[in-house]
Amino acid sequence: PTTRHFNFVVSQMNGSPDGFSKPMLVVNGLFPGPTIEANQGDRIVVHVTNTLSTRTTIHWHGLYQNGTNYYDGTAGVTECGIPPGQSLTYNFTVDDFSGTTWWHAHYDTQYTDGVTGALIVHPRKYPRGFPTWDEDIVVELTDIYHAFSATILSEYLGGGGGPLTGLQLETPDSGAINGIGQYNGSTKYTNLNLKPNKTYRLRLIHTGSAAAIRFSVDYHALTVIEADSTLTQPYTVSSVTLAVAQRYSVLLTTNQPAEPARNYWMRAALKSAVAVPGANADIRGILRYGSGHAAPTAGADPGVPGSGLADLDVAKLVPAAPRTPPPATKAYTVDFSIGGKPDGGAFATMNGTSWQPLQGTTTLLQIVDAARNGSMYAPEGSSIQPGSQFLITEDSVEVVDILLVNTGPGDHPFHLHGHTPYIMGFGTGTYTGTGLNTVNPFMRDTFAVPGSGWLLMRIVTDNPGIWTLHCHIAWHMAAGLMMQISSLPSKAAQLDIPRDIVRQCSA
Ligand code: C2O
Repeated sequence: PTTRHFNFVVSQMNGSPDGFSKPMLVVNGLFPGPTIEANQGDRIVVHVTNTLSTRTTIHWHGLYQNGTNYYDGTAGVTECGIPPGQSLTYNFTVDDFSGTTWWHAHYDTQYTDGVTGALIVHPRKYPRGFPTWDEDIVVELTDIYHAFSATILSEYLGGGGGPLTGLQLETPDSGAINGIGQYNGSTKYTNLNLKPNKTYRLRLIHTGSAAAIRFSVDYHALTVIEADSTLTQPYTVSSVTLAVAQRYSVLLTTNQPAEPARNYWMRAALKSAVAVPGANADIRGILRYGSGHAAPTAGADPGVPGSGLADLDVAKLVPAAPRTPPPATKAYTVDFSIGGKPDGGAFATMNGTSWQPLQGTTTLLQIVDAARNGSMYAPEGSSIQPGSQFLITEDSVEVVDILLVNTGPGDHPFHLHGHTPYIMGFGTGTYTGTGLNTVNPFMRDTFAVPGSGWLLMRIVTDNPGIWTLHCHIAWHMAAGLMMQISSLPSKAAQLDIPRDIVRQCSA
């Protein structure tokens, strides 16, 4: 195993990823930020310096942080946030994790402004018979907002008063593929210059904030081999739709004779309503393996002619290494909704309570302090301040079913930190106890709960610490669509929290 060191400097600057100049928050002056690449078993050490005028944190989406919950990077939960002008060194191993994921700020909606990057961990080995490929390419997909996210957020939570109202506030102006998008007629594209007759693994990562994104490449089939960080049985499709924070690896073979120049559109179509006047939902890049250097000509998406292939259906994903989940020992139902306060501002609840970050301390520090005084913070069946937030505590290793019930019309992409849940089933309407896969359910860390529907996830509470379960739509998270799971608090209380993290809270 190797120790991999990175230096991140978070700063504010202007950028124009889609041709429109806007304020951004970035790492090392880059958008997307630097890619972290490691092998399973390595140690990753990231020294983060904050030059912003607000606090910040970096979260490593999907990693388990087993034994290092304090480096999970979640503001108000595992750290107070790096104060302006200060730094923090995150230091953790990727022993039990491999796959395609990303890192991002987890402080208010900062990541929406650009604090995102890819995180790739190569496994020790692939399952026998797993497909092979010639080259790896990271493809980061995002939606883009022209206003500073803090400005949008204060209107969103405060009931407006600005030119945008309601839904418009959470819909983007445009999007980007690897940091380049188009707005108002701009014609700059990300180019992937490939070789003919090779197979590429495109690691698609949705680093955006609200809109689901449909990815396709004109004339080319895509074979899905990974969803989030779980390897799949190969599944060939014509397009892949990613909810916010999801990832897919797809194999693409450069074997099309269709166009003489062998220039093709890569398309990232923003799926949710794009309500802002002038917004562009049709984001493109160019994939080429010929001699032509003009933009491809075809207008509408031709799909994969003659192939009979369809869009990805998540219900058809099968793990490459199926596992039968242990039977549940505990069960909870959590209904959630997002709606308006009397002043029109957005307000979200999970089991009737709305998440707010602790100020001047963290949930993890509260757990440690309580244990020091011989008690348990938020013992089983209780709620925590502020706002009497609902949380789930298990002080022994349990197999916990959580039924998420979506009482509103829209899909919500939920993410659980520190675990890869079994997705036992999902559907629209009322959950009846049927339609579950108890044999080889898919396992993934980010999953859409259907509008006016449900999703049943199963986890094993064997990872000591405090982990958030939340909608990954940045605006919803900030409106409180988040709860916490305290796994093995008696063990979490024994974690050796670094002094720098304790000190952050009094700075
Ligand atoms: Cu991608 Cu709570 O995180």
